[in-house]
Amino acid sequence: MAIALCPGSFDPVTLGHLDIIERSARHFDEVIVAVIRNPQKAQSLFTLEERQLLLKESLAHLSNIRIEFFKGLLVEFAKEHGAEAIVKGLRAVSDFDYELQMAQMNQQLTGIDTFFLSTSPQYSFLSSSLVREVARFGGDVSTMVPKHVNDRLLEMFEKDR
Ligand code: PNS
Repeated sequence: MAIALCPGSFDPVTLGHLDIIERSARHFDEVIVAVIRNPQKAQSLFTLEERQLLLKESLAHLSNIRIEFFKGLLVEFAKEHGAEAIVKGLRAVSDFDYELQMAQMNQQLTGIDTFFLSTSPQYSFLSSSLVREVARFGGDVSTMVPKHVNDRLLEMFEKDR
């Protein structure tokens, strides 16, 4: 059974993430969406439980997906869960340097391979941090996140307006 990890902060999940997860699920028997518990980013918006719920709802149509939390090294989590691959989306050349470095470090640590999928062009500008910022200031992100995520963002920032 070939298991892959799609790791990230998912704060919140975007259509760009879903594009990569759904495409990964076509190539692997099981995909574990690995939500980091201890992000280095201080600016988190959603709690871990909310992120998990939003992901769960977004991926309910796929039977070979699991959503798990992890902390510490991704390669250790991969070992514990028998995952043989990490899948990452590449949006632009600017992603490449850091992603390549992480892929090579992870490969060096345990031999795990990272597979890169090119982000679908309509999502190449998209990131959770920009979605958070735009939504916070009242911009329309309804074409960038699933409907239930947009609803939750509207609800969260309604009180600020
Ligand atoms: O959505 P993000 O925040 O860009 O995801 C980054 C993430 C979680 C994939 C990356 O920071 C990560 O793998 N962190 C786990 C810690 C780790 O293994 N660090 C060594 C990487 S070479």
